Amino acid sequence: MARRTPIVVDCDPGHDDAVAILLALGSPEVELLGVTTTFGNCAVADATRNAQRVLALAGRSDVPVAVGAAGPIAGDADLGNYVHGTSGLDGPPLPEPQRPPIDEAAVEFLTRTLTSSPEAVTLVAIGPMTNIGLLLRDHPEVRNKVAEIIFMGGSTERGNHTPTAEFNTHADPEALDIVLRSGLPVRMVGLNLTHQALATPGVVERMSAMGHVVGRTCAEWMGFFGGSYNRIWEFEAPPVHDPCTIAAIIDPSVIEWREAFVVTELDGTWTRGTTVVDLFRRYPDQAANVSVAMTLDVERYWDLVLNSLDRLGAAS
Ligand code: RIB
Ligand code: CA
Repeated sequence: MARRTPIVVDCDPGHDDAVAILLALGSPEVELLGVTTTFGNCAVADATRNAQRVLALAGRSDVPVAVGAAGPIAGDADLGNYVHGTSGLDGPPLPEPQRPPIDEAAVEFLTRTLTSSPEAVTLVAIGPMTNIGLLLRDHPEVRNKVAEIIFMGGSTERGNHTPTAEFNTHADPEALDIVLRSGLPVRMVGLNLTHQALATPGVVERMSAMGHVVGRTCAEWMGFFGGSYNRIWEFEAPPVHDPCTIAAIIDPSVIEWREAFVVTELDGTWTRGTTVVDLFRRYPDQAANVSVAMTLDVERYWDLVLNSLDRLGAAS
């Protein structure tokens, strides 16, 4: 079998984060070295508890969880409980955490893991990017052990948390700015892509039909998440954002990519956190710094995700 890609998932579970973690655990192509948590969809304490509960659901409480940022590098934490519910992962009952988070904070865990890894590690950022920004700012010595940063955030089109800004990049634009200026390989999976990854009734039915608790739980998460997306943004089916980053590691060809200059607005009264994606080279003196996800092969995406969820559920 091909070499497994070592990854750390930095997340704010969050219904779609939860599916992303399960996708990683059910995919032999990736090795989940650990989970770091951040504020975002809910307070970091809730995100941490939710990450632990998702790992317990999968029978993988051996995966270390390190607690991260409670707020952004600048400004206050603007939480997403209005989408994900009071707990941050409302819906079906979940197992209780089987072990506490590790003693190291997220940035310490990331620093040690990168330093000790025999090969470069892929950082998967699917929440506000505060932990990743602080890592690059305060520990430049580990940059050469970062294989790439792939993040769910931003958009080539409109936003969601504000009309122009996507939730994760709006939550901590300074952190994203550090990543975009880092010179490291960066892939951006924005709303323009993830809005193609809809959990339609057919997808949810395939989850339910798996006949195990992983499939049933994902189907019920889609029920809660879909209700929020219909109530707030009038979607008929919820866009399952975060697993798109994991799928992009498992099989990059499931997405069409485009190189572009990307920068984030830090100062706009109405536009702070907006990603400005120069797809048509309107700033010719700005070199492309990001691979931007543009088109999803929807059928192959869902086959990949559902096969991995079924593999995990059947084994756990
Ligand atoms: O805008 C969608 C993103 O914000 C997803 O990562 C979701 O989990 C929330 O964190
Ligand atoms: Ca998330």
